[in-house]
Amino acid sequence: MKVIYLIKDLQAELSIQKSQNKKIGFVPTMGALHEGHISLVERSVKENDITVVSIFVNPTQFNDKNDLLNYPRTLETDCQLLADTGVSYVFAPSVEEMYPQPDTRRFDYSPLDTVMEGAFRQGHFNGVCQIVSKLFDAVQPHRAYFGEKDFQQLTIIREMARQLKYDIEITGCPIVREKDGLAMSSRNTRLSIAGREHAREISHILFKSRTLAVNHSIDEVLQTVKEDIAAVPALRLEYFEIVNGDTLQKVRSWDEALHVVGCIAVFCEEVRLIDNVKYREL
Ligand code: PAJ
Repeated sequence: MKVIYLIKDLQAELSIQKSQNKKIGFVPTMGALHEGHISLVERSVKENDITVVSIFVNPTQFNDKNDLLNYPRTLETDCQLLADTGVSYVFAPSVEEMYPQPDTRRFDYSPLDTVMEGAFRQGHFNGVCQIVSKLFDAVQPHRAYFGEKDFQQLTIIREMARQLKYDIEITGCPIVREKDGLAMSSRNTRLSIAGREHAREISHILFKSRTLAVNHSIDEVLQTVKEDIAAVPALRLEYFEIVNGDTLQKVRSWDEALHVVGCIAVFCEEVRLIDNVKYREL
């Protein structure tokens, strides 16, 4: 496994691999790796000859300065974790390498990027699209892997790849959870022991809502989830929406879409956590 810091060095390596017809899989990350990230890496290693993992805390997607400052940076441990996964290259560029000048491009995938995370984190998806397009251009992989944990991000990346005609297969991978149900996230390490106990309620409430959904209306499920979150004093709901999994727009009845997903964002001790649950899928 080689750790590479410059785009030109990465491209020199990859052009040799591509000239030998090697299939390149790509997993973009911001580091502080956990088993959720590793599941994407393992999938890529299985499906491709070469896997590139990028580790880059992208400043343009943070709408909150403190969140950017507090974001864990653990390159050395990340590399140790990746060392025996079969990854060929870790690409860990500096901010100057990725943004030699400010990126003024504006990505507009409305209405996908104006709801939920897009509504509460101004400019977030613009920053995500800026960096993911730069990384796609640098790596030019055959396949790229994203987690369903960031369900809206995955949908927007698919749309970006379609509109910009990237010849890259985008693969969504299931959410990896802690034993107690909490969706794995680099931000979980910022929770206290007590906060961690409360945070697991989020997934329990979502799982319960899936049972409720069998014989209750969307309005009833929405109401129950909101009440259940409110009943845990340590949690503060930012949003809970039940949406069409393809358009990300709210649905009013279960049979309105083939793919129905409940997406939630909750603050626990000032740490912002997101999760989602599928009510209906093809
Ligand atoms: P990051 O939060 O590091 O996540 C990298 C990838 O890992 C994303 O595709 C995310 O959905 C996936 N992931 C995170 N937690 C997961 C879990 N518990 N189960 C399954 N997959 C999980 O998402 C980003 O970074 C950035 O926005 C990025 C795409 C790298 C652009 O900067």
